[in-house]
Amino acid sequence: MANSSNTKRPPVRKGPMGGGPGGMGGFEKPKNFKETFKKFLKELKVIKTPLILTIIFSIIAISMSILAPRIMGEALTEIGLLLFGNENASFTTIITCLITMGCLYAINFVFSLISQILMGKASVKVSFNLREKLKHKLSKLPLNYYDTRETGDVLSVFVNDVDNIQTSLQQSLNQLINCVITVVGVFVMMITINFWLTLIVLCLLPLSLLLTGFVMKHSQKYFTRQANDLGDVNGHIEEIYTNQKTVKAYTNEQKAISEFKEKNDRLYESGRKSNFYSGLLMPLINFANNFGYVVISLVSCIFVLKGLELGGKGFGIFDFALEIGYVVTFLNYSQQFTQPITQLAQIFSVFQTTLAASERVFEVLEAEEEVATVVTNKLGKLEGHITFENLTFGYTPNKILLKNVNCDIPKGKMVAIVGPTGAGKTTIVNLIMRFYELNSGKITIDGIDIKTVSRENLREKIGMVLQDTWLFNGTIKDNLKYGNVNVSDEEMIEVCKSVHAHHFITTLENGYDTVINETATNISQGQKQLLTIARAILAHPDIMILDEATSNIDTRTEILIQKAMKIAMENRTSFVIAHRLSTIVNADKILVVNNGNIVEQGNHNELMKQKGFYFNLYNSQFS
Ligand SMILES: Nc1ncnc2c1ncn2[C@@H]1O[C@H](COP(=O)(O)OP(=O)(O)O)[C@@H](O)[C@H]1O
Ligand SMILES: [Mg+2]
Repeated sequence: MANSSNTKRPPVRKGPMGGGPGGMGGFEKPKNFKETFKKFLKELKVIKTPLILTIIFSIIAISMSILAPRIMGEALTEIGLLLFGNENASFTTIITCLITMGCLYAINFVFSLISQILMGKASVKVSFNLREKLKHKLSKLPLNYYDTRETGDVLSVFVNDVDNIQTSLQQSLNQLINCVITVVGVFVMMITINFWLTLIVLCLLPLSLLLTGFVMKHSQKYFTRQANDLGDVNGHIEEIYTNQKTVKAYTNEQKAISEFKEKNDRLYESGRKSNFYSGLLMPLINFANNFGYVVISLVSCIFVLKGLELGGKGFGIFDFALEIGYVVTFLNYSQQFTQPITQLAQIFSVFQTTLAASERVFEVLEAEEEVATVVTNKLGKLEGHITFENLTFGYTPNKILLKNVNCDIPKGKMVAIVGPTGAGKTTIVNLIMRFYELNSGKITIDGIDIKTVSRENLREKIGMVLQDTWLFNGTIKDNLKYGNVNVSDEEMIEVCKSVHAHHFITTLENGYDTVINETATNISQGQKQLLTIARAILAHPDIMILDEATSNIDTRTEILIQKAMKIAMENRTSFVIAHRLSTIVNADKILVVNNGNIVEQGNHNELMKQKGFYFNLYNSQFS
């Protein structure tokens, strides 16, 4: 029951997206890491220059911030020696050190600012490019592509995935560059100060890595579960919310509530667990760091004492002695060293999610396109003589729907297509519009194979009114002129008068400038249908197609619409598909369709005389 809303589905993807604080949550892996990574790099080509500049600037900025503690160490040593009354120590050295540090941090500020800005710009450019490509691609995809996918999924690629790529580029890539440079830089610094202390830092590293790894692994499991559960709850809410009427009509509120409770409980449980583990992470890492702090402090103090015995300053890297000021420096470095390494693991998982998002983007970009038309003809003003020659068609290759359909439709006539639901009536119309390609056979208009003209050229010659009144958010006027913006207001009003839409439009608050949207309750279904008919007429088509335009409509409005349809069909070849046969008894030609075949054709009287399929169909409605 409550499952009819897939066309308006917002981009909620079930599964591990988003979720979780600190980017640890949405842990999704690309199906094919290597391939996707290659393509991803290719996308980065457009930002090659800013990327290289960012790296260079980051190296400069980070080098400065890495050098600073070392200078501070020198200053502190100098202060220490002054305190101990060492006559080699001088106050000016301290001042020089402090000024140098100030300069270093200033340079660091400027360059990291520039690299951030560059990266921000670059990431926006990448996502802009991807959106452009996607938009371009979406207009080239065959309808078949959309038939087999949920609108929400295609939307989600456009919105969520591209957004994810942009954010990730902006934040993670910058972080990644910083981490790598910092780790290398700090390592070099440490080893040039004291080899043995560096060795201790390296030995302590696995401790924090193991702890982080353990917690991440567990929390990720629950974050994935949490994201799934959240998707479930969202989906459920959406379904119930958009189908309130159905739920109430079948008095299923209680069932909906208990279903919701069950899903919500599950979400609570997974949310609680994932938060417990992610809550563990910081304290544990802090503990590991503090432990390292204590060990390094202890050892370096011993080294300093040893150094003081030797004069307090200027030791080689393999000495067990240390300058007093370097204790702080070293502690500083050991922190700067461990942090980015634990961060790398996180960045990597975020990056994998990004690759998974990119993979979906690439999937869309690489999907098979509509067969390109070799345009050799152009349709001008049409007479509207249409022929079907041996049409064979199936939506999927293994299920052929139309087999060898032949038909000749004289110009300017009204043709009705009748038959049971699912017989293939709309399919025939789809083929005339070239929404789908024939398996074999051909359709000609005025002797021209429609395959030899561009789709745009073909479609601008054909007007279409469908059962679902498709109007978009905007004013009535915009909607009416959608097919032909050059129409004058006078003509628009004239046509609206002729289809009996003018009256109700003028009674609306803002007349033709009234904004209509999906939820607009001030316009009835029938009135919307009148607008779509007016719109089709205003596009000046040479061929008109009306597919079940009177379904979903009350009988009183139906009479209005039938009148409007008659006007829409004047002076052009037209196809009418209607359930109620009363609408089509006057048709010049009736095509009776069953199981994808035209089983009978002729006018009403001829068909009634045959006492065949049409005869039975007609009698079943009017007996
Ligand atoms: N986009 C599509 N993809 C796959 N099958 C389709 C599609 N549209 C219609 N069909 C199938 O083709 C058959 C004919 O459908 P259609 O032409 O819409 O029938 P109707 O005569 O009611 O207009 C039906 O069995 C329907 O399920
Ligand atoms: Mg149909």
